[in-house]
Amino acid sequence: MTANRRRSLSTALTSVLSSPAAQAADASAPAPAAVPAQPAGPAHVTVDLDQAGDTISRHVYGHFAEHLGRCIYGGFFVGEDSEIPNTRGIRDDVVDALRALHIPNLRWPGGCFADEYHWKDGIGPREQRPRMVNSHWGDVVEDNSFGTHEFMDLVELLGTEAYVNGNVGSGTVQEMSEWIEYLTRADDSPMAALRRANGRDEPWRIPFFGIGNETWGCGGNMTAEAYVDVARQYSTFVRDHAGNKVTRIAAGSHDGNLHWTDVLMRTFGTQLDQGPDGNPGPFQAISLHYYTMTGPWEDKGSATEFSEDEWYTALSRASHIDELLARHSTVMDRYDPYRKVGLVLDEWGTWWNVEPGTNPGFLYQQNTLRDALVASIHFDAFHRHAGRLLMANIAQTVNVLQAMILTDPESGALVLTPTYHVFAMNAGHHDAAALPVHVALPEEAPTVDGCALPLVSASASTKDGAALVSLSNLHATEARTVVLDLRGAEVAGFSGTVLAAESTSAHNTPEQPDAVAPRELTAIRPHARGLEVDLPAASYATISLELG
Ligand code: AHR
Repeated sequence: MTANRRRSLSTALTSVLSSPAAQAADASAPAPAAVPAQPAGPAHVTVDLDQAGDTISRHVYGHFAEHLGRCIYGGFFVGEDSEIPNTRGIRDDVVDALRALHIPNLRWPGGCFADEYHWKDGIGPREQRPRMVNSHWGDVVEDNSFGTHEFMDLVELLGTEAYVNGNVGSGTVQEMSEWIEYLTRADDSPMAALRRANGRDEPWRIPFFGIGNETWGCGGNMTAEAYVDVARQYSTFVRDHAGNKVTRIAAGSHDGNLHWTDVLMRTFGTQLDQGPDGNPGPFQAISLHYYTMTGPWEDKGSATEFSEDEWYTALSRASHIDELLARHSTVMDRYDPYRKVGLVLDEWGTWWNVEPGTNPGFLYQQNTLRDALVASIHFDAFHRHAGRLLMANIAQTVNVLQAMILTDPESGALVLTPTYHVFAMNAGHHDAAALPVHVALPEEAPTVDGCALPLVSASASTKDGAALVSLSNLHATEARTVVLDLRGAEVAGFSGTVLAAESTSAHNTPEQPDAVAPRELTAIRPHARGLEVDLPAASYATISLELG
C-alpha cells in the first residue's frame, strides 16, 4: 500500500507540475504574492439568485467506512454485548449523529480492503465465519463479524443508501456476480435462497456498486489499458435483478492522472454521442481519489501541530480539487458531451501523520478547524462541478483520516469533529440547484505551494424558495467583511451560522467537545447591495436566505 501510494503521488506530482498553476512556481515566474498581514478590504461575493444551474446531487455529501483501524470495529460496531448502547451491535450514538447529517450514502467495505474481501466469509453464524488477515491495515486478523447483513442493517438504521465496493483484485467474476444476486434478488434463485437461510427474506436495494478500488495500486497494480477490459467484464455480471438498478462505478484515477480517465472513457467510443438518453454501459460512473496533506508521503504533517505556512499549504492543496475536477471532467466531456457518465470522488479528505502512540496502520488522526476549512473548500468546488460530479465520499466517517466522529478506545466517548459541523451546516445544499457565484477580492491572491489561493471561498444553491450561501475566510489570523451582492430575487429574511475557534488548530475532545462548534452568526447587516457579513479569522459560515 505504502509503495503504491508513493508511486501514485509521484505520478500526481508529474501532472501537477506540468499544470499552469505549478508553472507559476518556476524560477522564471514572478515572485509569489505573500499572504497579506491584513486583507486589503471587504470581499465582494455576487450571487445570482435567479440563475438556478445544475442540481447538486446529495450524494456528493457521501461517506466511506472501511475495515480499517477503528472505523468499523469500535467505531460503528461494538457487538451486542457491549456496554455502549447499541442496536444489534451498532452504536446508537453514532447512528443518531449521522442521521442528523442525512448522510445520502455509505461506501463499504473499502478501499484497499475491498480487493481482499470475500463476502461469503462475512455471512452466516458469526462463530462459524472464517478469519482473514487485513494485510493493508495493520496486518491484523479480521474475524468477519461485521459482514453483509450487518452492513445492510447499518444502512437501514442510518436511513441511507448502500455503495458496495466489489473485489476485482483478488476476487472472481462469479463472486461479484453472486454478491449482487444475494443482495438484490427477490425470487428463489440460489443466492436469494442463501440470503433467506441467513435470516433476510426481502432483497435489499443496492444503487451503487464499485468495480474494484485503486486498481492502479492496491487493487491489483494494473495498467489502465489492462483494467478497462477487466472493468467491462466484471460490470457485465453485476446485473440489475428485479427492480434494482445499479450504478456501476469503475475504479478510476487519482490526483492528476488524466490518462486513466481517458482510457476508461475511450472505451465508450462514440456510443455516448447519440443524445441525452441512455447509457449503454458497461459502467455508469468512474471514480477519482484525491487526498490533502502538507508534507510528502513519508511525513504528511501533524493533524494538530502545524505552522501558519502549513495552514495555507493545506488550504491551497484542498483548493486544487477544483482544477482536478475541471481537468477530469474535460476529458470526460470529450467522449460524453451529454454527461451520462458520473464522476465519483469516492475518496477525499485530509491525510495526516497518525496520532502519536497509535497504530500506524490504523490511520487515526485528530481533526481541527483546518480540516473543517479543507472540507468547505471541497464542497464549494463540488457545487461548481455539479453537472458532472455524481457522488463524493469523505475518507472516512469514524476514527479514520478526516473523520466526522472520533470515539475514545477506552471510555467509548464520542466526539463530533469540526468536519462533522461543516457537513451539518451544508445539509441545505443537498439536491439544491447550484447558483453562479463570483468572488472579488481587493488584494492579489497570494501564491501558496505554486498556486494562487484567493483568501475567500464561496458557493451557493437554491431550493424550495430559499437559498444557502457558503463562505470561508481562509485568512489564518484576520477577520474579513464580505459584501453579499444578492441579485435576481427579493430577500425576505436571513440568518447565519458560523464555525470558528480560538486557534486554527482548535479541535474537539471528550473533555472539550465544543471547542469548535457552530454558533449563530449575528454580524449580518442589510447593505445597499444585499447583505454585509463579518467573518472571523479562519472561519466557515453559512447564510440562509428566505426568498420573497
Ligand atoms: O482511505 C484509506 C485508503 O486510501 C483506502 O483504502 C485506499 O483506497 C486509499 O489508498
